[in-house]
Amino acid sequence: MNYQYLKVEDRNDGISVLTISAPKTLNALNSTILREIDDYVSNIDLSRVKSLVITGDGEKSFVAGADISEMVHLGEKEGFELSKLGAGAFRKLEQLPIPTVAAVNGFALGGGCELAMACDIRIASVNAKFGQPEVGLGIIPGFSGTYRLWKLVGQAYAKELIFTGKMIDAQEALRIGLVNAVCEPAELMNNVFAMVGKMLRNAPLAIAAAKRCINNGFDMTADEAIALENVEFGKLFATEDQKNGMSAFLEKRKVMFKGK
Ligand code: CAA
Repeated sequence: MNYQYLKVEDRNDGISVLTISAPKTLNALNSTILREIDDYVSNIDLSRVKSLVITGDGEKSFVAGADISEMVHLGEKEGFELSKLGAGAFRKLEQLPIPTVAAVNGFALGGGCELAMACDIRIASVNAKFGQPEVGLGIIPGFSGTYRLWKLVGQAYAKELIFTGKMIDAQEALRIGLVNAVCEPAELMNNVFAMVGKMLRNAPLAIAAAKRCINNGFDMTADEAIALENVEFGKLFATEDQKNGMSAFLEKRKVMFKGK
């Protein structure tokens, strides 16, 4: 599929950079962009792409939310469909078996904050601003923000952010655990690539298993989550990477994981 609003850069280190590009509306997510994101994550070539980084075009905005001009005349059924479209695409993103990072280069509001939250890691530039301003428009977060925000920051702060619709800066987002790190805008992508680089030196099947345990375990009982971990832990002992990784440690040599 040729994308109208997405720029894809496949780097030779296995990192794919997906840039949302709708500069006239601060990269607001219209339904075409949501379909393009869905298509991209549905068809990602995991034999080549080992990690996905998502960012926004320009220096001002990551994503300023869902496109308000497109939503203004929607009725109940269309609102429901839009929510399903965005939430569905973000769920597929969340379930990718590779590390995903949002490089938040500016406004991450409404659907933009929700997109960032569907990634595993968020690294923000100091000028980034976060918020869920939907109630000020007469709606609520519709791309799973009412679910993911409290998982990340707890119910009290999630309710405060959603009920007030206020914006917070990157330092406050760091303080409440919404982002992993904050850096100067000029350093953002290099910092992201450095963190991803560390991840990509580790066993990819192990990272995928850890991601499944963390993502799925949250919604399980303690016994179910621990049982899931037991199974995933056991399965890794059937991989070449486990044999190789442990022998390399014992033989004091460097290891190159194969993802097998
Ligand atoms: N949808 C449509 N257009 C948007 C937009 C959005 N979410 N955000 C910004 N734009 C447009 C503006 O209308 C403006 O267009 P014009 O030049 O044609 O007037 C252009 O982008 C630049 O924006 P501003 O002039 O407003 O820039 P600013 O620097 O003064 O303010 C801002 C920046 C604070 C981000 C402000 O644009 C803003 O508040 N945007 C809306 C943020 C928002 O409410 N997001 C949530 C949307 S609802 C949602 O996301 C639902 C969901 O959960 C799925």
